[in-house]
Amino acid sequence: MNVARSLRELQDLSPGLDEFRESVVGGLSASPKTLPCKFLYDAEGSRLFDRICDLPEYYPTRTEVALLRSRAGDIAALAGPGAVLVEFGSGAGVKIRLLLEALREPALYVPVDISRDHLSAAADSLAEDFPDLPIAPVCADYTAPFSLPPVPGVGPRRRVGFFPGSTIGNFTPGEATAFLRGAARLLGPGSLMIVGADLPKDPSILVPAYDDAAGVTAAFNLNLLRRINRELGAGFDLAAFRHEARWNPAESRMEMHLVSLRAQEVPLGPHRFAFAEGETIHTENSYKYGRDAFAGLARAAGYCPAEVWTDPAALFSIHVLDVPA
Ligand SMILES: C[S@@+](CC[C@H](N)C(=O)[O-])C[C@H]1O[C@@H](n2cnc3c(N)ncnc32)[C@H](O)[C@@H]1O
Repeated sequence: MNVARSLRELQDLSPGLDEFRESVVGGLSASPKTLPCKFLYDAEGSRLFDRICDLPEYYPTRTEVALLRSRAGDIAALAGPGAVLVEFGSGAGVKIRLLLEALREPALYVPVDISRDHLSAAADSLAEDFPDLPIAPVCADYTAPFSLPPVPGVGPRRRVGFFPGSTIGNFTPGEATAFLRGAARLLGPGSLMIVGADLPKDPSILVPAYDDAAGVTAAFNLNLLRRINRELGAGFDLAAFRHEARWNPAESRMEMHLVSLRAQEVPLGPHRFAFAEGETIHTENSYKYGRDAFAGLARAAGYCPAEVWTDPAALFSIHVLDVPA
């Protein structure tokens, strides 16, 4: 099979401009002000996130990659031959390569991501490196229902969900349970779900991971305002906001905020949003789950936890969950 045949056309179910505007206006009208973190990922946001993954302070990526490398054979054995792989929030598609190198004749890879251009480039690059692998990219908000593309060939296929990057931590625990329930429905009975979850740790490690010395995470966070200006015609002055990363021990989560440096009004269409000096827009949560806490969440979503692997420094965990047959 050549690259052109194995890579299918991208299915575009991404949120439109109206949905983006509605979310932004709703979030900036709320008190405290908030914006959904999924909108951090336009093409520039995805590019900046890839740079974050390489930062010395950002331990999650290198730790999860090392764990996946050492456990890829175990995952391949659990998945079995001819599996259909569905990756939620696939990003640059770096981690799936470790699994693809270990899996026996995967039948189909479905990367799902909200960031269209980045998804398309990642799928192209993967098709170059895995020319025999059928790839069917889906640009969608994975919190909304979508269906899986048809699988080539015949016979039953084991479906394997993959949700790395501790992206599960961007949901509140209630949202995470709802997402996991939806993923189980999509994957079907007897499937497998592999989730990377960041573990709780000292804030002296956590805070720099979300506020690096080079300022890449700050640029990632502020890029959301640039996107709102460009796509919705808002009038944010980027120099009048700064990035802040906070550890919230009561909720076991890192938070990203954009702090208004002065009292100001920001126009957006017919709206004007007033900011007091020091007022923030809460842009992202990253919940940290202990092993048992995450297994409990997975059980509440209907899964049977099968395996959990952590690195020797107990920074990060990978959970293997069974969807009961
Ligand atoms: C934290 S990054 C992780 C990227 C990659 N999986 C990794 O492990 O490095 C989150 C990814 O999920 C995507 N994403 C975030 N919210 C999403 C949503 N609601 N629906 C689909 N994709 C989403 C982003 O575009 C981004 O690629």
